[in-house]
Amino acid sequence: MMTKWSPNSWRDKPISQVPAYPDAAALAETERQLASYPPLVFAGEARKLKKQLATVSAGEAFMLQGGDCAESFAEHGADNIRDFFRVFLQMAVVLTFGGAQPVVKVGRIAGQFAKPRSSDTETKDGVALPSYRGDIINGIEFTEEARTPNPARQRMAYRQSAATLNLLRAFAQGGYASLENVHKWMLGFVSDSPQSERYKVLANRITETVDFMNAVGITSESHAALRETDFYTSHEALLLGYEEAMTRVDSTSGDWYATSGHMIWIGDRTRQPDHAHVEYCRGIKNPLGLKCGPSMTPDGLIRLIDLLNPENEAGRLTLISRFGSEAVGDHLPKLIRAVQKEDRKVVWSCDPMHGNTITAAGYKTRPFDRILKEVQSFFDVHAAEGTHAGGIHIEMTGKNVTECTGGARAVRDEDLQDRYHTHCDPRLNADQALELAFLVSELLAKKKHGQASRQAVNA
Ligand code: PEP
Ligand code: CO
Repeated sequence: MMTKWSPNSWRDKPISQVPAYPDAAALAETERQLASYPPLVFAGEARKLKKQLATVSAGEAFMLQGGDCAESFAEHGADNIRDFFRVFLQMAVVLTFGGAQPVVKVGRIAGQFAKPRSSDTETKDGVALPSYRGDIINGIEFTEEARTPNPARQRMAYRQSAATLNLLRAFAQGGYASLENVHKWMLGFVSDSPQSERYKVLANRITETVDFMNAVGITSESHAALRETDFYTSHEALLLGYEEAMTRVDSTSGDWYATSGHMIWIGDRTRQPDHAHVEYCRGIKNPLGLKCGPSMTPDGLIRLIDLLNPENEAGRLTLISRFGSEAVGDHLPKLIRAVQKEDRKVVWSCDPMHGNTITAAGYKTRPFDRILKEVQSFFDVHAAEGTHAGGIHIEMTGKNVTECTGGARAVRDEDLQDRYHTHCDPRLNADQALELAFLVSELLAKKKHGQASRQAVNA
């Protein structure tokens, strides 16, 4: 028997990855204040995203989800948001063209602050302090003061999310995201890339298409669809006190929604079916993500789907696999078969970042080749199983950082120290992110042509 859900029913369950706040009264006061603040997103927007994700689960669209591993207070500036958004939109256009399908755009942004950690403490020179858990919880500096969880940070994260979302909404709806602009930025990337010959073919075809549309009178002035875009936000629902405070009843449907972001996901370390994070997420109506790492079993997955999507609603649940480039073949087919056998409607997405983290020259990094290989294997497995490789989930930035190695403008181990700015995991830089989009676009085009030739054979 399932117990009754409420926004705080998670508090009766076992929970991991909780910060040790020294002042319980201050924490409760912060949560009370947050609960009185306006919602960051609206239920109707979350429903619209769910509908779009339902088209992904039906094989008719592709999902692009990406952004910071951990947003930080230090990097909260208009330029950072703009640069991220520009790269993200270019990726989306390239993917749209390759797959000839709509791309559902979901940022890891405007709320992606809290981080799970492998250890509660970090030790340096014999001094042990609480681990950094993201700017919404404590500071990254290695001092006792910074590392002590401070509830006031939740209000700062809320306000930063609101300001970020405000700018993103203006960019998405105000003409900045027009196809002409995105196309122009993309041509800039292609002409500067050492791989420019490879990308030129696709870029030229996009140029011809844009020219043709303009010639027949389809311009961003005449068509809103060419000057506006739907852009959604997402983050890991890790800090449940914050999430609970942002959980509100939708007056239209009477349902509960997380209003901290359009989509939230459950991390690979907090997906125990009888624990707090699954309990919280099962009761809200937003689209949900579920990270699936190597310890996920087929039975375990079906049990989680039973809890998180009991009505088998399309678009409700996105399974984000993150096995590592060498392990996809060992894990993904079993999970796909279990889901197919039970006829569960899900979006399959690939996070090629978290299973491919290594240490080089003293830095946590991810080789671009392995990232690409995991995506390639993900597509191969789905092709073999006859299911839809529905999306990618990546950690990226619009800046020219040196955090992941490789790529066309190869970042070497010895370059990592130059611009290693991440507060948590290594992100693809702008060039690497776009390069990945071009390569995934080729996979999507191949898939589309494979389908077209099968249809011709069967006709
Ligand atoms: C993340 O997405 O930053 C993360 C911690 O991932 P996972 O839960 O898959 O390890
Ligand atoms: Co990460």
